[in-house]
Amino acid sequence: MGLLTVTDTTLPNQEETVTESTEFEKNQKRYKELIASFPHEKGWRPKNPLIQYGGHWLMQPRIEGCMYAQEFFQARPTDLLLCSYPKTGTTWLKALTFAISNRSRFNDSTNPLLKRNPHELVPYIEIEFAFFPNVDALKDKENTLFATHLPHGLLPESVARSGCKMVYIWRDPKDTFISMWIFYQKQKTHDGPLNSLEESFDMFCRGLSSNGPYLDHVLTYWKAYQENPDQILFLKYEKMRADPLLYVKRLAEFMGYGFTAEEEKEGIVDKVVNLCSFDTLKNLESNQGEKNMENRPSSFANSAFFRKGEIGDWQNYLTPEMAARIDGLMVEKLKGSGLLEW
Ligand code: A3P
Repeated sequence: MGLLTVTDTTLPNQEETVTESTEFEKNQKRYKELIASFPHEKGWRPKNPLIQYGGHWLMQPRIEGCMYAQEFFQARPTDLLLCSYPKTGTTWLKALTFAISNRSRFNDSTNPLLKRNPHELVPYIEIEFAFFPNVDALKDKENTLFATHLPHGLLPESVARSGCKMVYIWRDPKDTFISMWIFYQKQKTHDGPLNSLEESFDMFCRGLSSNGPYLDHVLTYWKAYQENPDQILFLKYEKMRADPLLYVKRLAEFMGYGFTAEEEKEGIVDKVVNLCSFDTLKNLESNQGEKNMENRPSSFANSAFFRKGEIGDWQNYLTPEMAARIDGLMVEKLKGSGLLEW
């Protein structure tokens, strides 16, 4: 509820506080009524259900935010939408796109990335746009960077209509699962205990995870990419980790912010890569300990977004049988799509 203080000048010294609903709150009741009729399943936190919407499983607030974005988010042709399944490299992508598009505005010591978590700089259409419309990035009409974890089929129509570009990042499902399960353990406020690794893993494989099924999420964007390769840049976390310089140049080119030969010679690409690297961001004061986002409440401290940033950490958690189950699913789901070889 937004709080608005109104002073009636005819009644000196009397202040009355009235509450003013946000646009989202005016519509929320309608969304809740609709959502109540959708299939519900126990979530990874059993008290926190996953709800089926558009063929995917989402948590209640995310569907409400999605419905609001579908109705009210007006994408512009110049916007860039960063799309990802959670825990596949979103934070990195937010930092990189921000650093690339703002590189002429800031120098090495003034870049906001040095003081703020990347999530504060690039708003989610189903989170900030709906629930926290007053964050700086949304009030700044020059900001063209937005993000979403929604599958392609749930994007607001304005995204397709505007023809705005999108970047999609995906990652090995085994590392994605582990990253997600450990991330949830770091949640500060929640609705009760988290399922065991084994139970959560089984649900993940059955498609029951936030925005899941994961591989279907990937396929929705892969299909869109194949239909419209100029509109979507498809990235893979592992490939970017192996050669960040190459992919940062490709990303900048795609965004219309390609590096000039001179910039390359001056080492500007390396500077962007270094500023956004896991080690740099993780070690910033703003991303340490219990520091929180400054622009909105979050049930995760900034540090939760930086764990190990490694490839293959799943080997420390999953049995060979579990790994074989996901690998089998990958083959089954992605076979014939071209993604397995990609
Ligand atoms: P791990 O949990 O495997 O370490 P998301 O940003 O989509 O939530 O994804 C989080 C994953 O990306 C985490 O993986 C996190 O450590 C890693 N990550 C965060 N910032 C990164 C960066 N700048 N470079 C590479 N990986 C990063």
